Amino acid sequence: MTAEKKAAAAPAKTFTLKDDQSGKEWKLPVVDGTVGPNGIDVRKLLAETGHITFDPSFNSTGACKSKITFIDGDAGKLMHRGYSIEDLTQKSNFIEVMYLLLYGDLPNKPDYEEFKRHITYHTMVHEQVHFFFRGFRRDAHPMAIMCGVVGGLSAFYHDSLDINNPQHREISIHRLIAKIPTLAAMTFKYAIGQPFMYPRNDLSFVENFLYMCFAVPAEPYKINPVVAKALEKIFILHADHEQNASTSTVRLAGSTGANPFACIASGITSLWGPAHGGANQEVLEMLHEIGHKDRIPEFLARAKDKNDPFKLMGFGHRIYKNYDPRAAVLKADCHAVLEELGVKNEPLLDLAMELEKIALSDPYFVERKLFPNVDFYSGIILKAMGFPTSMFTVLFALARTVGWCAQWKEMIEEPDMRIGRPRQLYIGAAGRPYVALDKRK
Ligand code: CMC
Repeated sequence: MTAEKKAAAAPAKTFTLKDDQSGKEWKLPVVDGTVGPNGIDVRKLLAETGHITFDPSFNSTGACKSKITFIDGDAGKLMHRGYSIEDLTQKSNFIEVMYLLLYGDLPNKPDYEEFKRHITYHTMVHEQVHFFFRGFRRDAHPMAIMCGVVGGLSAFYHDSLDINNPQHREISIHRLIAKIPTLAAMTFKYAIGQPFMYPRNDLSFVENFLYMCFAVPAEPYKINPVVAKALEKIFILHADHEQNASTSTVRLAGSTGANPFACIASGITSLWGPAHGGANQEVLEMLHEIGHKDRIPEFLARAKDKNDPFKLMGFGHRIYKNYDPRAAVLKADCHAVLEELGVKNEPLLDLAMELEKIALSDPYFVERKLFPNVDFYSGIILKAMGFPTSMFTVLFALARTVGWCAQWKEMIEEPDMRIGRPRQLYIGAAGRPYVALDKRK
């Protein structure tokens, strides 16, 4: 008997809900996942019981079914389409991982070449896009520019914005993945007052990005293969992370039928926050502020003080209650990359290692299972590569674009996709008579 037939033959699983006041019971269907927790299907809860679920930060809420990414937070495991992140970072490359996320399987050789061709072909942005940049101050945060210019891309592709047309979806995804590195590099060049470098399609995805960031027209530019390899790993590690805040933002925006450029722009805005992708910039700024390991106890005390908003940036995660596997990969790489780049005795790395050691033996962090996350080590590597801190979250957005696109595509392809619309628990006034302005106290 096939797995599907076995599942169909098995008695439907239910979860019983009881109202203690009336004694009334409801049987709610249980939906199985492949691995990880099963879900209680509450879609008819309101209609049948008159109640809604209350879960403001979505701690226990499954908003979709997905086949893309699985995280086991207790075990510190991350898988894309069933492949471990360790295998993908060691054996694969970013183009292949992008294909895997979007289409479900690793590509064969012809599919790989074809996909690479599409992603390479679309790297240029319309010449008019260059003028968008002039509207921004030179000291604008590059994420502010990204929010604007990525959304602005919708204005250029009226011929392919029909989200119900699979070819339109496909070309929009290819354009987004191919053009975001170009836009990201342009934000960098704009800030430092250097000319934009047009993409070079003879280079790999990562090499081309490095070229657009660090080359200048006046001189030849030699790509450091160690830097390219390390950046490729960073991109793979950030490619997708299931239903985090920015991905959920993209899905919610996408559920309205908004075009993919607008949806990805919404993901970028959501990623920017310091609790999410903005943390990589904040980690480095925090390490600078701490300055010396003698000051670690002072900052740990602040992180534990509930009256102080300070948090130890790069620590903690909603899902990982064990070491973030992405941080483990980066930590292992950090020393090697810095050595290759000729950065000897990076004081910030020493400080980070000391901070990690002290925090991981502190009862506050141990009891709350607060471990370093991906952002803790990425900034140190990106800094050594020559990126300013303000670019860190842009690099995160660049890498995450494929994850957002894959999740958006998966959602649109769901036959029963409907607009997302959370409910609320209203706790305001229950109805008041209107009082004319001259009668109000
Ligand atoms: N420093 C000090 N205390 C912390 C920290 C931290 N970094 N993170 C969590 N806590 C405390 C928190 O105050 C709470 O304490 P208590 O139980 O006494 O109230 C407890 O740990 C549980 O934390 P939480 O606030 O319920 O956790 P959360 O799931 O709501 O938040 C988080 C997760 C990542 C937003 C949070 O840990 C944080 O703000 N970390 C720093 C920012 C950061 O590094 N973000 C990058 C996340 S990974 C990259 C990405 O996916 O974007």
